[in-house]
Amino acid sequence: MASDAMPTVAGLSIQSVSTEVSNYPNCYPAFNPIDKYRAHVAELVAEATGLEAAFVYPRIQWTNMLEKGDLILPVPALQIKGKKPQELAAEIASKFPKSDLIEPPVVVGAHLQFFYSHKPLTQYVIRSILENKDAYGSNANVGLRDQKDPSKGRKKVVVEFSSPNIAKPFHAGHLRSTIIGGFISNLYTVLGWDVLKANYLGDWGKQYGLLANGYEKYGSEEELLKDPINHLFEVYVKINQDVAAQEGPIKALKEQIKAKKEKNEDVEELEKELAPLVDVSYDEKARRYFKSMEDGDEKALALWKRFRDLSIEKYKQTYARLNIEFDVYSGESQVKEESLKASYKAMESAGVSESSEGAVIIDFTKHGAKKLGKAIVIRKDGTPLYLTRDIAAIVERDDKYHFDKMIYVVAAQQELHLAQLFKATELVGKKDLASRCEHVSFGMVRGMSTRKGTVKFLNDILKDVGEKMHEVMQKNPAKYEQIQDPVATADVLGITSVMVQDMSGKRINGYEFNLDNMTSFEGDTGPYLQYAHARVCSVTRKAEIKPEELGGADLSLLTESHAIDLIRLLAQWPDVVFNASKTLEPCTILTYLFRMTHTLSSGYDVLKVVGSEPELKMARMALYESARQVLHNGMRLLGLNPVQRM
Ligand code: ARG
Repeated sequence: MASDAMPTVAGLSIQSVSTEVSNYPNCYPAFNPIDKYRAHVAELVAEATGLEAAFVYPRIQWTNMLEKGDLILPVPALQIKGKKPQELAAEIASKFPKSDLIEPPVVVGAHLQFFYSHKPLTQYVIRSILENKDAYGSNANVGLRDQKDPSKGRKKVVVEFSSPNIAKPFHAGHLRSTIIGGFISNLYTVLGWDVLKANYLGDWGKQYGLLANGYEKYGSEEELLKDPINHLFEVYVKINQDVAAQEGPIKALKEQIKAKKEKNEDVEELEKELAPLVDVSYDEKARRYFKSMEDGDEKALALWKRFRDLSIEKYKQTYARLNIEFDVYSGESQVKEESLKASYKAMESAGVSESSEGAVIIDFTKHGAKKLGKAIVIRKDGTPLYLTRDIAAIVERDDKYHFDKMIYVVAAQQELHLAQLFKATELVGKKDLASRCEHVSFGMVRGMSTRKGTVKFLNDILKDVGEKMHEVMQKNPAKYEQIQDPVATADVLGITSVMVQDMSGKRINGYEFNLDNMTSFEGDTGPYLQYAHARVCSVTRKAEIKPEELGGADLSLLTESHAIDLIRLLAQWPDVVFNASKTLEPCTILTYLFRMTHTLSSGYDVLKVVGSEPELKMARMALYESARQVLHNGMRLLGLNPVQRM
């Protein structure tokens, strides 16, 4: 068994590469105790049926109800002709060789259920957890380019997530992208991929010309340094109010002109009246300012860069509270002029783009993608759009990072945008690049607001939920008094509350942002999960046994059904992690953790530690320590900070 854990990556440990090569796909007995069983069952089924074990292996499924067995085989999947599946199942069971590792199979309809024999299972699983510790469930082999030749290196994934817009609110879409993207990055890390975390900021466009003008009028150097994110937002709101106030008269004049033109009347007077209004308008000034930025005016760029740098500094601090650190802060501003030009050329020469009323568009309906409609790629005034920059950036990133996969974690509202991006990439002849990219989408959060009003920034949300959590904790004075630093604990629990609420359902489902529900200790909430962890930590503390001693425990003493069920669940952890890499759903992990904690907590009365005989005490502690470890690993994978006491 591989025991030397690799150095930690982003605070997560990964198990080192194993040179043991198996005959079956994705089978790593050195990391995953269950793979040993799967291989064993496949070989026994092969013996009983005459089929190839390699054919049987991928057809063995895992179950998520322990009553249904640990592994299950739907007999029709074996594709044996000429017999009814039920009869066949019974026949295979009757011919099934005896095994030390598993009980004789149970036939239920057309299924064969396999249950692990308790004794060897207990040994494998607990030893594996105690040896691998933080790295149990991780597997650096999965990310290898070539399973047989580790020197070929690891696969690389770019995860683009969070991506807020400077001077604008950090809304629920950004919150979810941050949480889900952080999780996906961790997941690929523990599966041995090289992960590059990218934040693609909204940091370019006419609005930053407007912001600069606003700053001239309303800005304060002191406020900017103190709280750049809030200050820039305030400035932005104020200058937008000015724009709105100017807009009325301009709009009215424009309408009059239009009406007169339709009647073929003279509009010279009105146009004379309009011109100066437009000329001094903030909107026009913003346009000009932004033009100067695009033209490389150093002064204009220096101010913009300060706004950007100061905002990034603040973002970094907030992301750190969620255990997230980006490798790159890119953004719309960072897409190079040459890349844009190259993509215009590629679209044109592939016959993908066409001119339309002075602008350049892609009419996807003409290229076999009816649902994608049409999209402008170059405005009448020659400027690119959000989509255009993405079309250029995707190629830039491929050239720069040579990734095997790139994941965009963006709200479902941008489904069309990403579909257009991938299609456009395909249409310019980069089918392979498009196929390496994936949109990981998610639904909306409803009603995300602080108690004082609508929420604007991530920090406000975290602060608010921390305060709420503190109040909830104070309702239990006896417990509250035992906590060393209640405010800090409330802060961590608060963050856990938000994250667990977010990760509880399938990504695509939206949810109601509900402070009361998420901070409750009842139900499958963040505080409950932390409590489950803190409780098992306290058992460990009270037992006063050193972790090193646990290796000598006599595990055959673990015979109660509570203990066995818990071990069977702990055995599933590496499979759960691997399965999550297919679903990319945080709830795959979370649902498992809650199941495991329920089993753990229902066992406390039966599996007592204090007062038990020393040998039994030691064996049970090995079990509790294993459960603690898996809970810890799961919480870390989700990006949570497990607390020791609360
Ligand atoms: N900044 C964008 C927004 O707030 C999200 C960026 C998504 N990523 C991308 N490559 N388009 O809507």
